[in-house]
Amino acid sequence: MDLEQLNSELDTLRSKTAAAVCDLTSMDEVRRLESQTTGKSGTLGGMLGGIKEYPPQERGQVGETLNQAKGELAALFKNAADRIRSTAAAAEASKASSYDPSLPGARPPLGTFHPVTLVQQQVEDVFQRLGFLVETGTEMETEYYNFEALNIPKLHPARDMQDTFWLTNGKLLRTHTSPVQVQAMERHGPPLRVIVPGRCFRYETIDPSHENTFHQVEGLMIDKHISIANLIAMMKLLLREVFGRDLKVRLRPGYFPFVEPGFELDMSCLICGGDGCGTCKRTGWIEILPCGMVHPNVLRAGRIDPHEYTGFAFGLGLTRLAMMKYGVADIRVLNSGDLRATVPASRFGGPTIVAKD
Ligand code: DAH
Repeated sequence: MDLEQLNSELDTLRSKTAAAVCDLTSMDEVRRLESQTTGKSGTLGGMLGGIKEYPPQERGQVGETLNQAKGELAALFKNAADRIRSTAAAAEASKASSYDPSLPGARPPLGTFHPVTLVQQQVEDVFQRLGFLVETGTEMETEYYNFEALNIPKLHPARDMQDTFWLTNGKLLRTHTSPVQVQAMERHGPPLRVIVPGRCFRYETIDPSHENTFHQVEGLMIDKHISIANLIAMMKLLLREVFGRDLKVRLRPGYFPFVEPGFELDMSCLICGGDGCGTCKRTGWIEILPCGMVHPNVLRAGRIDPHEYTGFAFGLGLTRLAMMKYGVADIRVLNSGDLRATVPASRFGGPTIVAKD
């Protein structure tokens, strides 16, 4: 083959290879074609091996031509390899960008509310809709607000009913939420509607229905012409909202120094449905709501004229209410940290929590 023929064959090889590399889609294909073309036993490899058949004076020229062609072919393969690599990288990148950050992630397990918290929220909600303020007061209280301002002077036998944790600083842990009554009167003046949810403490022996730490909600409404009828209507409304149905209630006379007249409001026991059980002491009734008309001495302590204003007050046992609503038979479960005494967030509104015996 003379030089001219060689050049024309190389031209054909170049254009065929240039066309073929365009169709390559993988690195394997590139390597295969490269070895068929410029590899030792490939087309160009064979030509390089045939140099010695040329007359010596032409060999230099032939070698140069073949090497130049080899360089050009190598460039074609390199371009093809680059193209394939960048196509693969782009595909990878577009796969990554198809990740949608707005899609919902893995759901962490939901927390739960304590039954007392749930009932407290519900009571607050009912009274806020009726225009009541929500105050909290403080758990450490003075003897004055916890007792004296509530018409329970020193040495009054009613103090014995409220076994008190006295503190070394002369104060005490509030035994009820009633101390906030006079504080609210002083702070806001009449007319006044306020509820006070909060934790209270008593130096009690613990049993299935007594705890040394429990929750109450105090309620106070003061205005001109407030009567017992307003009190009863409000209490019935509260129980209906909390239990989702009308409940049987009864009023008995009750003595509390800060109300006159004072009552015990009972509702039918939800644990036994009124038949009598351990929780209701076999009576079928649960004492849920001591209440009454605010004593004139208490109004006076709050700088309110008892001739001009009257009011009612109640002290709702929030812990007991939660036990009734969620079917907790033993009060000790509520402060035990037992997670079964929580209400799964997905089941707000009607689950039953059964206490261990
Ligand atoms: N503070 C009382 C207690 O813990 C409960 C109570 C009774 C509150 C009558 C009142 C009320 O507001 O009118 O035992």
